[in-house]
Amino acid sequence: MGTSPRGLHLADWRIKSLDSILATAEKKSLTRSLGAFQLTMLGIGGIIGTGIFVLTAEAAQLAGPGMLISFVLSALVCGLAALCYAELAAMVPVSGSAYTYSYATFGEILAWVVGWALVLEYAVAASAVAVGWSGYIVGVLDNLLGIELPVALVNGPYAGGLINLPAVVIALAVTWLLVIGTKESATVNAVLVAVKVTALTLFVVLAVPAAQAENFKPFLPLGVGSAVSAASLIFFAFVGFDAVSTAAEETKNPQRNIPIGLVGSLGICTVFYMLVGTGVIGSVGAQPVAGPDGQILSPGSVELAAQCKTYAEATMPVVCSNEALAHVLRLIGHPAIGNLLGLAAGFALPSVVLMMMFAQTRIFFVMSRDGLLPAALSKVHPKYKTPHIVTIVTGVGVAFAAAFFPVGQLASVSNGGTLCAFFFVSLAIMALRRSNPDRQRVFKTPAVWIVAPLAATGCLLLFAFLSLVAQLVFFGWAAIGLVFYFLYGRTRSNVARGVIEVGELSPDVPPQGVPPLPGIPTPGGKQA
Ligand code: ALA
Repeated sequence: MGTSPRGLHLADWRIKSLDSILATAEKKSLTRSLGAFQLTMLGIGGIIGTGIFVLTAEAAQLAGPGMLISFVLSALVCGLAALCYAELAAMVPVSGSAYTYSYATFGEILAWVVGWALVLEYAVAASAVAVGWSGYIVGVLDNLLGIELPVALVNGPYAGGLINLPAVVIALAVTWLLVIGTKESATVNAVLVAVKVTALTLFVVLAVPAAQAENFKPFLPLGVGSAVSAASLIFFAFVGFDAVSTAAEETKNPQRNIPIGLVGSLGICTVFYMLVGTGVIGSVGAQPVAGPDGQILSPGSVELAAQCKTYAEATMPVVCSNEALAHVLRLIGHPAIGNLLGLAAGFALPSVVLMMMFAQTRIFFVMSRDGLLPAALSKVHPKYKTPHIVTIVTGVGVAFAAAFFPVGQLASVSNGGTLCAFFFVSLAIMALRRSNPDRQRVFKTPAVWIVAPLAATGCLLLFAFLSLVAQLVFFGWAAIGLVFYFLYGRTRSNVARGVIEVGELSPDVPPQGVPPLPGIPTPGGKQA
């Protein structure tokens, strides 16, 4: 082991070889039970949720009808990232997603940063969707059953309440589903996916034919920049497809099924979103609401809420609604179907919480298996065959955030973590094409030298347009993670301790922590 030309000791980067990663997974793998259809269902289950059902209104307030551009822009960034994910997930079909790819490409410390950012993505997204669900279910209980829950128990302190109890309840219920088993969870998920796809289809069928050209004018009342800001928020609506790759270790024939699950679920959802966006704007208009002095108000602000209170229900702009799609249907003369859609959202959003938490537990599972988190977390339940301890720890964290923080803020914070992960995946695919050119790639990203740089640039652009709070939380969270890494994982990781996975299977490969340079033949004649 020598030093690089810049004098940096290569072992400091602690790159974990792909062979080693695959060998570790082989030894301690979870049960492989998921097929292509179940994976696509898991993808759609993760994608369609609070983003389209709740945040569409916030995107309209930010950009007006121009939010259609926002949908296209965030779909584009996600599509490019999905193509990168597909190649990596098929090539390295193990749990861990962006974290694992970063370990193999950039080494331990960046892998830790990415894994830590994935906590923001998945766990905080699960909290955001739990809060979105809470809003719908509170409305459904009130409108259909006349049950009014105490304000203090259905809102966090941000809205004058104590705790968002329904959000806590759904987070804990999903935790239980995940503890009792992947198979059962995926089946429940498939039913709920069918419910929300039906709800969106009904919306499109009723709203799109009611579209009028004048509702699209002015198209960009607040300029082009506003469409990028809205894209950085509505990006949340597309997040979730990458969670499919974290189920790789539980997938049958992953080389074929993972790419189908990733690209298929994202493509289906993009088509739905464009139609839903067109329906919302075209049928009732989506111009931003201004305050008494004519200035455009921020979504989620007290001022906007006060302005919205001045409208009667029948004339309330869509940007004021917490249940945008149901509100549109009521405005265009379909109140019963609007209520039904609200019910469907309340019934189906838990599938998104499930997908996000599923992904989060698998990331923690792999990080703990690598020694960067306590080993107890990677224990698999003897009966249910699930990583139950890590699932329960995640569930408690998700419930806590859902109890006390608002949905828009949670969604933006989640986007920060997601963009970080996507960015490193886009870099990783290029680095691995160079360092491991001969490794078998069952799925190859087309035009990778255009697709991957564009994906990385798109991530940087959207991150730059995120809210300041979300950016600050991201950097603060990364700093906390680095402190934890240097206090705990740095000395305990398998790579640091020289725990040999590959060596046990193939004595030709040097111990971890002293990886051969990529492409250099080892003493046994094998390519590293
Ligand atoms: N894409 C998921 C949602 O919109 C996270 O709820």
